[in-house]
Amino acid sequence: MFVVEVSELCKSYGDRLAVDDASLSVERGEIFGLIGPNGAGKTTVIECIEGLRVPDRGRIRVLGLDPVRDGREMRRLIGCQLQDSALPHRIKVREALKLFASLAPGASRWEELLEQWGLADKRDAAFGSLSGGQRQRLFVALALVNDPEVVFLDEMTTGLDPAARRTAWDLIRRLRDRGATVILVTHFMDEAEELCDWLAVMRQGRIIAADSPRGLIDRFAPGINITFSSENGDLGWLEQLEPVHSMSRRGRRVSLEADSDALVAVAGALFEHGLHPADLDVNRPSLEDVFLALTGERAADEPAVSSGEGGSGGSGGQAGGGPGGAAAGHNRAESPRMIKGVRRG
Ligand SMILES: Nc1ncnc2c1ncn2[C@@H]1O[C@H](COP(=O)(O)OP(=O)(O)OP(=O)(O)O)[C@@H](O)[C@H]1O
Ligand SMILES: [Mg+2]
Repeated sequence: MFVVEVSELCKSYGDRLAVDDASLSVERGEIFGLIGPNGAGKTTVIECIEGLRVPDRGRIRVLGLDPVRDGREMRRLIGCQLQDSALPHRIKVREALKLFASLAPGASRWEELLEQWGLADKRDAAFGSLSGGQRQRLFVALALVNDPEVVFLDEMTTGLDPAARRTAWDLIRRLRDRGATVILVTHFMDEAEELCDWLAVMRQGRIIAADSPRGLIDRFAPGINITFSSENGDLGWLEQLEPVHSMSRRGRRVSLEADSDALVAVAGALFEHGLHPADLDVNRPSLEDVFLALTGERAADEPAVSSGEGGSGGSGGQAGGGPGGAAAGHNRAESPRMIKGVRRG
């Protein structure tokens, strides 16, 4: 069942089209991530779903409710951490949590949230005296005070130190494991890859791809890069291996672009030829490579070319078939819902 459904959402600020025909759907109990460059329209989409902005066009449902028409009812069931938030500087941490809890009937978890989000020793501190990361944690705690069924987190971990970020990830996973649905915006690709079950990539107001993190990597940054050092000048036989697409050399350093499962074949062939390089290394593309391939400058004006089976990969910005083509192809050919439909099959 889809907890959040957005279809054909458009939103302009004056003559600036911020969201252009965006559709997405979020299943109950998943962590859904929205990624994309600055200004892509992520916050605008989230704020329309939260009922904070009125769309120009399109249909939004959250737990079956219309954020504009059923806003009051919906807000009882959701929690929002906004990208830009502020509180009066003199309000104390525990006062803020108590205040937010008092607005949500039945909410009693604020003491627990203080502990969970590492704010217990700041309970009597004024908001104005908190560090950036402490403020951020307070806003996440405030978003969770009503035990929401759907949680929106817009750059939740920006400003958090590495340990706090890991703790936040654990807490978000626990939320999901309790049955909540989490929708988050992040610029940290490791966070998106680690945490999200499903991702939508936005660029220039449009959703250009949607899939699991693994699925995005397989589609848009396929293959691996294998490197090792060798004095042997005649390695042409490596290029004859089926999963190897190309080989290049810089001095002693040999670099192979190959299918993602090529390592065993390459290692076996090296062994058979009496080569045992101690520095045999593999680079697997990450979500960051997908991000750069799909949203990089090159993608903007390239003509559409056939999408993705090509064997480049390993290093970023070289998704098979060309990022422009792949991205544009998905924009036209598949709605996020259709892409999503493939997922369970
Ligand atoms: N209140 C506003 N008034 C006018 N233009 C706006 C407003 N809010 C956003 N925009 C514009 O709409 C576009 C999308 O902005 P949005 O904040 O949704 O992007 P974003 O993807 O969340 O970016 P970021 O990663 O920087 O947070 C941008 O071009 C931005 O300048
Ligand atoms: Mg934003």
